[in-house]
Amino acid sequence: MSALIRALSDLKGITPKNIAPMEGPSGVLLCPPSYYDVLEVKNPMMAGHLGRVDRAGALAQWESVRDALAGSGFSVSVMDPVEGLEDMVFTANPSFAGRGPRGEKICVLGSMRHPSRRRETGLHEAWFSKAGYQIKRLKTPGLRFEGGGDAVWHPGRRLLWGGHGFRTEPEAYEEISEIFDCTVVLLKLSNERFYHLDTCFCPLTQDSVLIYPPAFERESLELILRLFPMVLVAKEHEAAGLLCCNGVSAPGKKIILQKGADGARGALTGAGLFPIEVETGEFLKSGGSAFCMKAFLY
Ligand code: ARG
Repeated sequence: MSALIRALSDLKGITPKNIAPMEGPSGVLLCPPSYYDVLEVKNPMMAGHLGRVDRAGALAQWESVRDALAGSGFSVSVMDPVEGLEDMVFTANPSFAGRGPRGEKICVLGSMRHPSRRRETGLHEAWFSKAGYQIKRLKTPGLRFEGGGDAVWHPGRRLLWGGHGFRTEPEAYEEISEIFDCTVVLLKLSNERFYHLDTCFCPLTQDSVLIYPPAFERESLELILRLFPMVLVAKEHEAAGLLCCNGVSAPGKKIILQKGADGARGALTGAGLFPIEVETGEFLKSGGSAFCMKAFLY
């Protein structure tokens, strides 16, 4: 069933529990940061970091993220980096994968806001089509959609959370809900430091989520509070400075996140989760952390 939820009044009894189940991701797609750089300010975190990437350090951090993902039970696939595509390491953005109602593997190609990232989608198309996914693209020309940076599946359910406001346009979700035949809860982002949904919203389990509340418009925040029985709240400096909400939920209640977010780590442990810390400082310079550095595979 495809439907769009924008406010509490649209819910009409919908809760994650009465939505069909969907198996979580079994793997991740990564791209090594061989040509990674900060060359233009695409988001506020990039300001002040132009040309300041330590590429050897970035490679070592990427390897530690890769090892944490593999060690947490994901099968890891790696795509070849391409010279001149400085953001290709952020595989979350150029596409979005999941399963259709009959279990078929689908990949929707993104439509990137910044011209410097548009070539990445063709490379994702080639990779996902070789991996056996049905490839779908948005029909409306120029409609922006930044893939798994803004579209996030509810753990274990055919329910999609759709961020918009800075990179993705809300109309994209009309097409995406039809492609996957699923309900989409739209979340409007209101603070440009949290320009992608994955910078301020981290589903942990079917019942719990870690968020940074000031990043959302009121109606969107109300939906999160209604649909997750347990909402953990990130502190401002951990959310903005360490992107602590950009963690990857892994099998066995593990959560891979940037090192040093002590408040978030304590809250996660208190909620019965197992945080695994990684250093992603070189990628924070570009506005990304662990979640941005992978695309989920099904
Ligand atoms: N520099 C990249 C950009 O602004 C960072 C993308 C981070 N990805 C994410 N899913 N938040 O596009």
